[in-house]
Amino acid sequence: MCGIIGYIGSDNATPYIIEGLKRLEYRGYDSAGVAVCDGENFTVVKQKGRIANLEEELKNHPVNGTVGIGHTRWATHGEPSDLNSHPHLGKQSKIAVVHNGIIENYKELRAKLSRRGIECVTETDSEVVAQLMEYYYKGDLIEAVIKTVNQLEGSYALGIMCKDEPDKIIAVKKENPLIIGGFDGSGFIASDVPAVLKHTRTIYHLNDKEIATVTRHGVSFQNINREVVSKWPETIEWSFDSAEKGGYEHFMLKEIHEQPKVVKETIGSLMNGMNKDVLDKLCEKTASFNKIIITACGTACYSGSVVKYIFEKICRMPVEVVLASEFRYSDPIVDEKTLVILISQSGETADTIAAMREAKARGAVTFSIVNAVGSTIAKETHYNIYTAAGPEIAVASTKAFSTQLISLYIFCIRFAKSLGKINDSEEQDYYSEISAIPDKITSIIENSDVIKQYAAKCFNSKSIFFIGRNIDYAISMEGSLKLKELAYIHSEAYAGGELKHGTIALIEENTTVVAIGCCKRLFSKTWSNVEQVITRGAKVLYIQCEGGEATESEHVSVANVPDINELFSPSLSVIQLQLFAYYIAANKGCDIDKPRNLAKSVTVE
Ligand code: AGP
Repeated sequence: MCGIIGYIGSDNATPYIIEGLKRLEYRGYDSAGVAVCDGENFTVVKQKGRIANLEEELKNHPVNGTVGIGHTRWATHGEPSDLNSHPHLGKQSKIAVVHNGIIENYKELRAKLSRRGIECVTETDSEVVAQLMEYYYKGDLIEAVIKTVNQLEGSYALGIMCKDEPDKIIAVKKENPLIIGGFDGSGFIASDVPAVLKHTRTIYHLNDKEIATVTRHGVSFQNINREVVSKWPETIEWSFDSAEKGGYEHFMLKEIHEQPKVVKETIGSLMNGMNKDVLDKLCEKTASFNKIIITACGTACYSGSVVKYIFEKICRMPVEVVLASEFRYSDPIVDEKTLVILISQSGETADTIAAMREAKARGAVTFSIVNAVGSTIAKETHYNIYTAAGPEIAVASTKAFSTQLISLYIFCIRFAKSLGKINDSEEQDYYSEISAIPDKITSIIENSDVIKQYAAKCFNSKSIFFIGRNIDYAISMEGSLKLKELAYIHSEAYAGGELKHGTIALIEENTTVVAIGCCKRLFSKTWSNVEQVITRGAKVLYIQCEGGEATESEHVSVANVPDINELFSPSLSVIQLQLFAYYIAANKGCDIDKPRNLAKSVTVE
């Protein structure tokens, strides 16, 4: 996810662009840049680092012009660097482009350009857009834009300037947000409302493949067939703070809602994008491994706890899940036949970095699943794939976790297939289950009343237990952590069958217990645990797949998730657990996006 902005008016464009980029920094912040046109030439200033660095550079070396576009980056293709920053120019520096999204067929387009003598100079997917547009530009910018977007696969929101047509900015999008803000004498394009809210509350929303031409005199819209499109503006009533969160009260809730989209994009990147090539190479080596260790911290480690069950079920290979802070000091039994998988949203967690280096020192093959492109763990492991979660602002991890799960599922299936443990038909069945997950997440989010009402009843609990068996136990640990870090309520996750070996002594009148029962084959066992705690006075929230056998009573509330293969059910039960923790914390008035004592990335030991 990146932030783009454009300004055209009678003032110098740079201040508007920098101010707008600052308002979009939550969309990405590893590098930034501007392109400004003075009516004849472009000046481009772009660099790795935060927007403040770019602002400082522009103070020291001002650029002037009344038309400009800007970009703040969350890298997906090509690590953060000055060169890979946006805006990107065509070969003759005639067209400048800023892009938010993923061009899935960028390699094919780079090859096509190369055959025409046009070599891309960056590692990014986005550069192909600028190069193609300039290749097609013969004096009609709209025509060049249409020819280009007709070849793009994937998602995009584009801001486009042309040196030969300096009195306009063109905007076009597909699957990514792009708005047009207009007021007398000037106009804006932006990824999101906060970038323009200081100057206008009148905005237009672009639909997919609609083209906006923004000039000093107003904005016009046309479709991909060059037919005029009439649009009515919306008046934004939000406060700035609310606008930054897209109208959600907290970044965490916004990021919970982003999960269907980012899970789908992560699947796409694993099935046919940059990540697929890495999995292809890694899976050539599967026969050389006799052991798999998954190591990470916190929520990231729990994604490993979940996938342990899947690996052992379909690959029939032993998998150890070890906390990185333990792994690094445990004199681990690791050698060249060990595959060590490291999972990290930030790619900068100190314990996980140390575990990675320990594993490498002992000869292991290391494979990382990371969200932050160009981060330490991503760069130092032998193999790396990136989740497409985009920047995760809330300290409590939600969408990053969901994209870690989906990445691990797909890797596991690839691994099993390469070992010959599953056939083509089984492989396709798994993939069709996985591809249905985004829509199933959406339906859970849209039907969250049970969870919201239950949270309102138990937010004053002194402690809350989470129980489950098998893969449900693994995801119960994530549910417990979410509650602790968001609502500051003591919580424990317990294997259901283990309760009677001591912990059940803590269950008393009105104790809240969350039971996860998506493993239908274990229903009678999990239900007997529920009955044991009810007998001692507990109130139970039971999370199950539709069609499950749990029944509502004065002691039990049931929250359903859509039916799914139990191996992938954590992707759905975790949504209920995220919402449960969120609503409890909201009822308690906690600082949801920035919980006390916590940091988004723990870069110290
Ligand atoms: C999860 O909600 C927490 N923010 C924390 O447990 C986090 O998952 C852990 O610190 C690991 O961070 P990483 O994924 O950036 O390595």
